[in-house]
Amino acid sequence: VGARPNFMKIAPLLTAQQRYPELIEPVLLHTGQHYDYQMSQKIFGDLQLPEPDIFLNVGSGTHAQQTAKIMVPFEEHLMENETDLILVVGDVNSTLACAVVASKLHIKIAHVEAGLRSFDREMPEEINRLVTDQLSDYLFVTEPSGRENLLNEGRPEDSIFFTGNVMIDSLINAMDKVDRSILKQHDLTPGEYIAVTLHRPSNVDNPDVLSGIFKALIDISERKKVVFPMHPRTRKNIENFGLNEVVAGNKNILITEPVGYLDFVALERDAAIILTDSGGIQEESCFMKVPCLTLRYNTERPATVDCGANRIIGIEYEKIISNAVDLLDNPPQNISIPEKWDGHAAERIVETLLDIFALKSKNNKPTTVKS
Ligand code: UD1
Ligand code: UDP
Repeated sequence: VGARPNFMKIAPLLTAQQRYPELIEPVLLHTGQHYDYQMSQKIFGDLQLPEPDIFLNVGSGTHAQQTAKIMVPFEEHLMENETDLILVVGDVNSTLACAVVASKLHIKIAHVEAGLRSFDREMPEEINRLVTDQLSDYLFVTEPSGRENLLNEGRPEDSIFFTGNVMIDSLINAMDKVDRSILKQHDLTPGEYIAVTLHRPSNVDNPDVLSGIFKALIDISERKKVVFPMHPRTRKNIENFGLNEVVAGNKNILITEPVGYLDFVALERDAAIILTDSGGIQEESCFMKVPCLTLRYNTERPATVDCGANRIIGIEYEKIISNAVDLLDNPPQNISIPEKWDGHAAERIVETLLDIFALKSKNNKPTTVKS
């Protein structure tokens, strides 16, 4: 793991592996791609993840710098420690870097959340997905489009497994632990606010684009309060572009640090609508049946649109306002939950891997563990 959305994906997989202590010896490696307390340690705590066994502390950099800074020590680690399988999740630079290293050392690779495609190579994640999937031996997909995309790219049918969504496993585990303290803290009433996140380079790395989106947020906040836990990339850009004055001082827009996972789930669950460019949040909104407007021109997660929760609306001012008003006035009534987003994806993945490695026998019964 390396970046925030990886942590929600690995947590249920570690829990599922713990059921087979005789068969699997997991080693948790954190590259350090994300390192702020709120982006990493806080999320680890919320997910009850153990301390990583290995921490590479790579930090930020250009794509090549960050990827290379992961590859060098990871290669050293693998050369010194016999390893049967590398399991990578998602589409961040840490995912790509570890897959490339393992591949050249002929170590088997499992990719969880394989096959998602935005068909937009301007997105750094799309490159990470394409390369990781080409190199992976076992491809675990979250939705039917993943399988189709992989088959279209010539990946062998018997390497693809439709096992469901580990992000939703974590969400289901979190639901019992979520309370409304963050709403109280910020004087938010359930159903009476809009939750916003933005961090895609295409939206936040250009001052005109970012200030244009903010103009729409300011205007929509006249209708419902906006709460916006701000990603550090976005926060830094606002400062660098001199946009502090545009952003601050709107009484209806509450900007906070990134919040912990349980607090963010609380904000999502009680929001009237969600505006985001995040991948994972599109999926979470679907499961929680909270309508979502995605401020992008494509999604690699079409199941979130098919289930009736998500609209891909781009970033034009009129589109943001008209869609937000429409959803507030006419919330969709029939959002469905995609197939196999049921809290058991990680178990399916671990069972599949045990079958592949022919490790399961009648003597190896799973041990019960508390998640
Ligand atoms: C990364 C992923 C993206 C994912 C996102 C989740 C890549 C290419 N991008 O984007 O797919 O959706 O994480 O949040 O892997 N920063 C901090 N503190 C931190 C982390 C980052 O201040 O703890 C700042 C730094 O200025 C850094 C910038 O944010 O340069 C971007 O961080 P980086 O990890 O490169 O990309 P993200 O935008 O976070
Ligand atoms: N999230 C969080 N705190 C926040 C914003 C998001 O814990 O302030 C969680 C969110 O619930 C989801 C994940 O972070 O589980 C999504 O990560 P992110 O949007 O950073 O990345 P992406 O999914 O776009 O790759």
